[in-house]
Amino acid sequence: MHDDHNFTVDQDLLSRRQFAQAALASAGLFVALPARAQQPQPPLGTTAESPMGPFYPLNPGRENDADLTRLAGHRNRARGTVIELTGRIRDVRGNPISGARMELWQANAAGRYAHALDPAVAALDPDFQSYARLTTGADGSYRIVTIKPGGYDSPIGHRPPHLHFDLRGRTHRTIAQMYFPEDAAANARDTLYSALGRDAASSVAARNPADGSKYRWDIVLMG
Ligand SMILES: [Fe+2]
Repeated sequence: MHDDHNFTVDQDLLSRRQFAQAALASAGLFVALPARAQQPQPPLGTTAESPMGPFYPLNPGRENDADLTRLAGHRNRARGTVIELTGRIRDVRGNPISGARMELWQANAAGRYAHALDPAVAALDPDFQSYARLTTGADGSYRIVTIKPGGYDSPIGHRPPHLHFDLRGRTHRTIAQMYFPEDAAANARDTLYSALGRDAASSVAARNPADGSKYRWDIVLMG
């Protein structure tokens, strides 16, 4: 009898919590209410893998720091729209991966790679670094300053603006491409983006509504 009573009370508490969460969710809010017991969390979905593409730099150049818009000794900053990209690399259990290695390569603002095999006729930008190498901090975070790349024509159709990444965690490595949310229509027409299917969302950065030059892209590696 005593146990039955407790059971009823617990069920009542549970349903009230569920009701509160549903109400908050329907209001567009997410608030973590204290859980009664530690529930095992489902693993996070990993960031989608993409082909490396033909333009991984043959010659990374002398500078490879996380600000691609400035080169030592150059008077001018890289041409194009300067953007800041920040985020965090975590494993599928949600733990930050410190010391994860990241390589980034991308086209310049005109859609041209600094690569001998790029057939694009757009000009190179001598003030653009085009390649960066960095590692995540203790909390798995990273920060990159670059320019938004231009789209370009390719044998598989017109590619929307994107950044190429080689990401190495503790045990796993992923080649990825990151897309921009404001190019949703162009992304949807892109062969490689479309091939990601339901995983495509993991390759799109979030744009800061208060400052359109700031993007956030959180990355999940297997480990
Ligand atoms: Fe590309």
